[in-house]
Amino acid sequence: MTKRRVAILISGRGSNMTALIEAAKAKDFPADIVLVVSNIAGAAGLARASEAGIATATVESKPFGKDREAFERRLQDTLVSHNIEIVCLAGFLRLLTPWFVKQWDGRMINIHPALLPSYKGLHTHERALADGVKIHGATVHFVVPEMDSGPIIMQGAVAVRDDDTPDLLAARVLEIEHQIYPDSLRLVASGRTRIENGHCKTDAGSPDDALISPEII
Ligand code: GRF
Repeated sequence: MTKRRVAILISGRGSNMTALIEAAKAKDFPADIVLVVSNIAGAAGLARASEAGIATATVESKPFGKDREAFERRLQDTLVSHNIEIVCLAGFLRLLTPWFVKQWDGRMINIHPALLPSYKGLHTHERALADGVKIHGATVHFVVPEMDSGPIIMQGAVAVRDDDTPDLLAARVLEIEHQIYPDSLRLVASGRTRIENGHCKTDAGSPDDALISPEII
């Protein structure tokens, strides 16, 4: 099996990154995590990646100021120099330009801590609690120019409890993020996803073709 070469882009602690790295250790996992890139120098996830024996790079966004594309060109050079085939955004706190998104059309995925299309943007857990919703969760989706949009690959659900706080809810959602992100990368890297009319479909009959994780935790 030829494994796809994957880069993970982070800005922070990298718990989803770690979940992907762990999953990719399995012999039958269709992807190799070959590079972790941070736009923030000293991001905690970089040390975790190095400990796991994965190449890391820092491409700081700050020096580029508002010139997002100049930053992205540097980032793109780094990805190309490592022959990256698939990009996973994992807590990468940077809006991407249409130019960069186009370079990775159908090959870049993101995890968002809400059941999209609800709660795009920041502070998703606070907003879900403020609305009194009973179900919340996380979504893995292909990246398109519009933020937190794009074909949904997989979603995982958690029940909202009466005594939840944003931190408690975030912790349960994070647990499910760590399940659906590796599962989604497995689907994408093995070529079992396709986009039809803006929706992500999987090949029928594959063992993990369920796009929705109905587990309520
Ligand atoms: C996660 O909640 C993810 O859904 C969001 O940013 C957070 C990153 O956490 N995009 P971590 O760095 O993976 O621990």
